[in-house]
Amino acid sequence: MKRLMEGTAVVVTGGGGFIGSHIVDELMKRGCRVTVIDNLSAGTTEYMEKYSENKGFTFIKGDIRERALLHAVIPEKDAVIHLAAQPDVRLSASQPLLDFDINVAATLNILEEMRQAEVPLIVFASSAGTIYGDTEVLPTPEGHPLQPISHYGASKAACEMYLSSYAAMTGMRCIALRYGNIFGARSTHGVMHDFFFKLRHDPSRLEILGDGMQQKSYLYISDCVQASLLAGDSGGKGMSAFNISTAESITVKEIAATMIDELGLSGVSLEYTGGSKGWAGDVTRTLADTSNIRSLGWNPKHTTLEGVRLYTRWLMARYGRLD
Ligand SMILES: NC(=O)c1ccc[n+]([C@@H]2O[C@H](COP(=O)([O-])OP(=O)(O)OC[C@H]3O[C@@H](n4cnc5c(N)ncnc54)[C@H](O)[C@@H]3O)[C@@H](O)[C@H]2O)c1
Repeated sequence: MKRLMEGTAVVVTGGGGFIGSHIVDELMKRGCRVTVIDNLSAGTTEYMEKYSENKGFTFIKGDIRERALLHAVIPEKDAVIHLAAQPDVRLSASQPLLDFDINVAATLNILEEMRQAEVPLIVFASSAGTIYGDTEVLPTPEGHPLQPISHYGASKAACEMYLSSYAAMTGMRCIALRYGNIFGARSTHGVMHDFFFKLRHDPSRLEILGDGMQQKSYLYISDCVQASLLAGDSGGKGMSAFNISTAESITVKEIAATMIDELGLSGVSLEYTGGSKGWAGDVTRTLADTSNIRSLGWNPKHTTLEGVRLYTRWLMARYGRLD
């Protein structure tokens, strides 16, 4: 049964953010009635402006930690796509309680409002890159134990435990999208964004956190959106988790080389800060097993390196070429 279709009323938390704004575009294209809740702490209304006259679209500037707001918005909706979060692993290390409030307590509030209003479907943005921790099992299947090594990863795992209990106790359909690293147009964070601005500042050198050998999967945004909505529409009962990722992983060094090439630079001195980890809580090798989402008929249309080139071109178009 396809649920995220014409006429479906969907709340998108974090719809002003990178992934959320692309999900909103796809839902609007399908004819869904979309209500975005975003406090704009990291997001923007820029990509929603085109819907300002559209009766099927509502934007609410608000915080998912406000229970009264959730109580006003969630009833009579058909689904919640919950993407709003504190997404920074490093910030979760210095401010774990803030991370808990935004990522865990607010998610529980959303689930509770959904239970009371009998909203039948939640699609939740989890994280394949952090909830499995440092595992030797690569590619990592969804059934692997959750053993996060960062508070951010712990917060996503905690949310998934609540998805499981709410699914069992209420009959709500709960879907966890375990994203690998997602990148592409509109993204304002992550390794490629970081490299672009470092090179823009000084095209002769590039500082790389760690030893550059961190090897992870990076999925291009349009492939992420298709996979997310396919999983959201997957039907069935209870809670399901889907790794949303590429089947390949690449090193940070390869990303740097591809971006340098796409930017038309040469002779850039690569300077490593050293150590295997880029930061505390960095999981240096990630590769998720994607057979579950592929069994629904999904295949990414872009390789990671094609995506890196597309995103680099988008960054150049938006922020200007390097001098
Ligand atoms: N981008 C990735 O590579 C990646 C990987 C794994 C998981 N995820 C998860 O996917 C989701 C979306 O990530 P993204 O990359 O689009 O991040 P993003 O920061 O671009 O988007 C998050 C949005 O949530 C909003 N927000 C934050 N706190 C809020 C609050 N308290 N109330 C209301 N709105 C709030 C922000 O303003 C922003 O618009 C997040 O849950 C993130 O943890 C992302």
